[in-house]
Amino acid sequence: MQAFRAALLSFDDDGSARYESDGLLVIGPDASGRKVIRAAGAYAALCANYPGLKVTHWPGRILAPGFIDLHVHFPQTDVIGSPAEGLLPWLENYTFPHEARFSDHAYAAGVAQVFLDELQRHGVTTALTFCTSHPNSVDALMEASEQRGLRMIAGKVLQDRHSPDGVRDETEQSLADSEALIRRWHGRGRLGYAITPRFAPSCSEAQLRGAGELAACYPDVWIQSHVAENKDEIRWARELFPDSRSYLAVYQDFGLLRDRAIYAHCIHFDDEDRALMRDTGAAAAVSPTSNLFLGSGFFDYEAARRVGFKHALASDVGGGTSFSPFHTMLAAYYVAREGQTKPGISLSPQNLWWQHTAGAAQALGLDDVVGNLRAGCDADFIVMNPKATPLLARKTTHARDLDELLFSLIVLGDDRVIEQVYADGAPLTLTA
Ligand code: GUN
Ligand code: ZN
Repeated sequence: MQAFRAALLSFDDDGSARYESDGLLVIGPDASGRKVIRAAGAYAALCANYPGLKVTHWPGRILAPGFIDLHVHFPQTDVIGSPAEGLLPWLENYTFPHEARFSDHAYAAGVAQVFLDELQRHGVTTALTFCTSHPNSVDALMEASEQRGLRMIAGKVLQDRHSPDGVRDETEQSLADSEALIRRWHGRGRLGYAITPRFAPSCSEAQLRGAGELAACYPDVWIQSHVAENKDEIRWARELFPDSRSYLAVYQDFGLLRDRAIYAHCIHFDDEDRALMRDTGAAAAVSPTSNLFLGSGFFDYEAARRVGFKHALASDVGGGTSFSPFHTMLAAYYVAREGQTKPGISLSPQNLWWQHTAGAAQALGLDDVVGNLRAGCDADFIVMNPKATPLLARKTTHARDLDELLFSLIVLGDDRVIEQVYADGAPLTLTA
């Protein structure tokens, strides 16, 4: 067992944050040998329970759950910052040509290391990520994640039409490859598989049907896709699937909406779509930096809350502009203020942080596994220095309450705040 003394940030069941200014975090194996958080709470209350246990003291530091990125594309690490008129030209001109390179395992393995370094640098210890249509891109990412002890959920992209040579796959083979990858990786250590139709316009009916059948065979596998991101994309999806009530309903019609189904964007919804998300248990991966960069629109936080479907935060790199959860939280704050219909709402810093930790865990169906500092959770946590920059030092010194402290970090923070990252109970080191 190991113990760490510092301030602790965690979350209650109602999503409010709890701050222990002098806390103790104890980690060690559980009965099955899994490395977990054994205790988290006030130092004064807990220290007597662990006589003789050596305590590492980090004065002035805050321990918080590792962040969760609910939607990211590892092969788009080098696509960040590629400007385009909108989603569809961005895919055609930058993303598809770049993703074609991932047929080469060595290339994919090299980018996987860079990607994992970036996650780590920014304190992200769990991610739900797209690979490319090439099965070996999944192997490359899973092998690298396993070596580092990171919790990674990933899948081979399905795209058997409206996709150029080099990334387009073949219907039957793509489904056979997906099933083989599920058997190889899902549930191995901390790894999980996600069935990954790119988006309805790039998948034939047969491919979507096959994806839904796979999802029915493997109910604890995740599903990930994109929906209702961009007006041109929506028009195209409606033309291709005229019998479905809406773009979102296409996925429902093929058995792809359920718990553990995560849909990126969910911007241009009506209330029937929102109710469908709620009633099926699917969750939205809100990707504000991507939506601002590609000019896609503003996620409607007010409507999401009113109808009550699960939603949490994601970088969506490379449409997204940053791996930093701080930048994503700040962008979500702007987006909610703007709203789809005025007036927008002001998200609290506690809620923003929850959406990138415990709330994202809930969206993944991994509550009490990741995303919190709570007994029984995986031993994934970050060590933050709230005085990492001169301006942060001034601001956080004068913070009068937890909201002011968290807002200072969200607005001014970046990777300099993240001093150390622990995954599966061990400190991580960068490869480069
Ligand atoms: N829709 C289909 N593919 C993609 C992608 O790679 N990024 C985003 N943002 N939207 C998509
Ligand atoms: Zn995406």
